[in-house]
Amino acid sequence: MLRTHHCAQLTSADLGSTVSLVGWVDSIRDHGGIIFVDLRDRKGITQVKFDSSLREQATHLKDESVIGISGKVEVRPADMINKNLPTGEIEVDATSLTVHNMSDTPPFPLTDAGGDKVNEDLRLTYRYLDLRRPKMLKNLQVRHRVAKSIRDYFDSQEFIEVETPALFKSTPEGAREYLVPSRIHPGQFYALSQSPQQFKQILMVAGVEKYFQIARCFRDEDLRADRQMEFTQVDVEASFIDREGIYALFEGMLKKVWKDVLNHDLPTPFPRLAFHDAMNRFGVDKPDVRFGIELQDFTELFKTSGFKVFSATATGGGAVKALNAKGLADLTQGEIKNLEEIAKSLGAKGLAFIKVEGGEWKSPIVKFFSEAEKAALTAQLGITDGDMIFFAAAPWEQACAILGRIRLEAAQLLVKRGKLTLRPDDWKFLWVIDFPLMSYDEERGGYAATHHPFTAPVPEDAAFLDSDPRKVRGQHYDVVLNGMELGGGSIRIHQPALQKKVFEDVLKIPADVVESRFGYMLKAFTYGAPPHGGIAFGLDRMCALLCGTTSIRDVIAFPKTQKGQCLMTQSPTPVTEKQLKELHIRTVLPE
Ligand code: AMO
Ligand code: AMP
Repeated sequence: MLRTHHCAQLTSADLGSTVSLVGWVDSIRDHGGIIFVDLRDRKGITQVKFDSSLREQATHLKDESVIGISGKVEVRPADMINKNLPTGEIEVDATSLTVHNMSDTPPFPLTDAGGDKVNEDLRLTYRYLDLRRPKMLKNLQVRHRVAKSIRDYFDSQEFIEVETPALFKSTPEGAREYLVPSRIHPGQFYALSQSPQQFKQILMVAGVEKYFQIARCFRDEDLRADRQMEFTQVDVEASFIDREGIYALFEGMLKKVWKDVLNHDLPTPFPRLAFHDAMNRFGVDKPDVRFGIELQDFTELFKTSGFKVFSATATGGGAVKALNAKGLADLTQGEIKNLEEIAKSLGAKGLAFIKVEGGEWKSPIVKFFSEAEKAALTAQLGITDGDMIFFAAAPWEQACAILGRIRLEAAQLLVKRGKLTLRPDDWKFLWVIDFPLMSYDEERGGYAATHHPFTAPVPEDAAFLDSDPRKVRGQHYDVVLNGMELGGGSIRIHQPALQKKVFEDVLKIPADVVESRFGYMLKAFTYGAPPHGGIAFGLDRMCALLCGTTSIRDVIAFPKTQKGQCLMTQSPTPVTEKQLKELHIRTVLPE
């Protein structure tokens, strides 16, 4: 070993001993001819003193160079003691210095604050420097601890980790896939696995009973702060389990992870909210329930209103909904305009509002409201002075979505004004359940699976599969935390006839396509398929929340940018004609 101790280890108990340390030059100070170097390794910092013959050599050191030193542990002068460092009472008086690698000046300061100030592209180009920053190193360590805690948990529950292929076959009904050309089979392709879904179900048929995997998944999606093209799932499947069993299993996992990583006791069981209630009250299927501002329904009230926009929607099958952004009457014109733009981007025709100021309702629409309507609004929305009310009149789902978004924006505006506090560590977990099995896609004119086509219907609703698939609830559940979907899964279909019916009769996939894509699975189900179900959690999202960051890029060592590039290695890149030829591929570039 090049060292006898690491850089957070030496204390006054080591006084007088001769030690060797290695690490990076964190900082250099010249104190009247004596050079002090803070030497840093993964564990911490030790102060090294260079006087005597080494002084001249030490003056040429540069920050971030890698050096090794030997010397004697001494007590620091009283005025140099640093109570904040474990090694703050000692220093090492160097008697030898080896420069392993002299560093150029880094393109940005490698402190937490220094890196936060620069453009993320610069950090990603020099990721190896970015990862030297204490908080980035801590994020990697947290991720390691999360993965270990999860593995320990499932091991204790007698689950076994099984690896499944990344090279899978193309089944294009989910997210867009990455295709991989086959050299051996000209013109044929693999697809990178979007999730181990089908393999884990097959493992149930294989009798594994309890499977988990920390699995890499690939989806060609538009990237966002919480989405990467390759990401990691905590993927689980179990046989002979029902929804209650799944809820208890995963509450146990999350409880352990939060305890192991944050020493925080999560209360369980988590509250459950039906999809329909989530939409009605919060306007989304992944509600942030750390704050109120719930949506209220006024469809009945406005059916006979003098305000035609509302009465026409209410009598025409749509919904009129409103929310009270309490204390936001001081919104500026610009802020209101901005909210209107957001509503319009979601298809709203307008965003009617009432500003309650000085005992007066300031709004272009109140003149149309009757006294009874005003009284009902006041009572149901708890209107008092200083409030701001927003309305959406639209088809139910759209009205919910518009106000759901306005609710989140209103919360941010309240936070900005210091009128609301949203703590990232106010862990408000919940299960969202009772999703519709199918949703109707107006544009395409057909049904699509809300979760995926392997999800089992709620048994008492299954009879409606033929007559009105919209009425069928799925045995699907999501785990939501503070407005983020952390995981989702379902109890699966395990009877081949029902699975075939969903593919062919409900989703209208032609029988020959079903056979070529899912034939092997339907066949497997004819050889003793146990009832089974599972779930997958976004490991990156979970780590981001545990690290207190909003971007999953901060918890992935080498993430891609929003544009899908790795700035450090400069990928993607063109390849040679020879490589393409070998793969039987010719490219046609866009004009
Ligand atoms: P689903 O598609 O809901 O379910 O994915 C499960 C969880 O994975 C995370 N996730 C992502 N994280 C980062 N970047 C992405 N692009 C991304 N896409 C998804 C989310 C999500 O909740 N096979 C099913 C699970 C099952 O039914 O068992 C599946 O993949 O946190
Ligand atoms: P108008 O009668 O079109 O001038 O609209 C009066 C007010 O109602 C304006 O503030 C519009 O933004 C708002 N508004 C119009 N249509 C809707 C709607 N569908 N939902 C909510 N507000 C609306």
